[in-house]
Amino acid sequence: MDIEKIKNLKKSKFRWLVTGVSGFIGKNILNYLILNNQIVIGFDKKKINKSDYDKIFGLTPNKKKNFIFIKQDLTNPNFVKRNKIKIDFVLHNAALSSVPLSIKKPKLVFDNNVKSFINVLEYCRLNKPKKIIYASSSALYSNKKNTNENIKINNLKSVYAESKLANEKIANLYSQEFRMNIVGLRYFNVYGPFCKKSGQNLPVINNWIKSLLLNKNVELYGSKNQTRDFVYVKNIVELNILLSLSKNKKKIYNLGTGKSTKLNDLFKIIKNNVNFSKKDSKLIFLEERAGDIKDSKANMRNLITEFKITNKYFVNLDTGLKETINFFKK
Ligand SMILES: NC(=O)c1ccc[n+]([C@@H]2O[C@H](COP(=O)([O-])OP(=O)(O)OC[C@H]3O[C@@H](n4cnc5c(N)ncnc54)[C@H](O)[C@@H]3O)[C@@H](O)[C@H]2O)c1
Repeated sequence: MDIEKIKNLKKSKFRWLVTGVSGFIGKNILNYLILNNQIVIGFDKKKINKSDYDKIFGLTPNKKKNFIFIKQDLTNPNFVKRNKIKIDFVLHNAALSSVPLSIKKPKLVFDNNVKSFINVLEYCRLNKPKKIIYASSSALYSNKKNTNENIKINNLKSVYAESKLANEKIANLYSQEFRMNIVGLRYFNVYGPFCKKSGQNLPVINNWIKSLLLNKNVELYGSKNQTRDFVYVKNIVELNILLSLSKNKKKIYNLGTGKSTKLNDLFKIIKNNVNFSKKDSKLIFLEERAGDIKDSKANMRNLITEFKITNKYFVNLDTGLKETINFFKK
């Protein structure tokens, strides 16, 4: 498996620019890179919360010097010229990443996601990294039956998805016009440690673990037969690194597991793994939410065959959920 390559990461010291470093996936990327002796320059408009920062650097306080944090709203173009730094790879994860928010505040989400991305690309024109990997989304697929990366995208269900499609088009233009090496990863439903534990619009796994730990009933929007392709964040991080370090044939890859899980089954697995006292916690059905996709399952053929990844590589849902529940409990 080509993924074995990243085990040698420690032997080289690269400089990584991670945008959205204070968010869920950004913190997981930071944690992984710091443990592997890399240098990380992190951009975000908010700081990393203290408890997660302490978790990342608690065991390796001497590595704090390998992390440079720049508090920056990426929609403000002034940062492009101001923060000139040598970087090898860019992992762009900053975005307003909620579909429900984009239904309520479409302009905010579209402007934020597209402006930040184009400014990051301008920044890269000046700083010339070897490669740019950016987060796109499975929200581009409205039909789970065909999630091949080459299908024509239409019938988008949210402005969030529109912002991701706009980014893919912009990435194509920058690749062609400026010969930049840019790769988009369409993440499916990512879960794992360092996820958001409170606040509005929590993703389904976070919301349910939180409710069950508080001995509350859990809420489900729409039918229990809806399916999702849940992918553990460790796989997302490692595949970001693999794509950075390897030659790639394509410009867009799906990043899920290729398996889909019914929400009803997800509820049962979480319930079995959360040691909670209220044994009669139930699913409460609410009306379907605008913008939500009913079913999703990644077609992983391109990534799996190109990088010789076996199906066994993906962390199974039961193991991943145990880790996520532990994170909530701590
Ligand atoms: N989590 C998922 O299941 C999932 C699925 C598909 C795609 N994605 C994409 O992956 C990326 C990371 O997702 P996440 O779950 O970590 O989201 P997150 O909301 O936890 O983190 C995003 C981070 O980006 C920062 N940010 C947003 N706008 C910014 C701006 N203008 N300037 C600077 N910082 C800004 C936020 O402050 C936040 O820390 C996003 O692009 C998201 O759209 C995530």
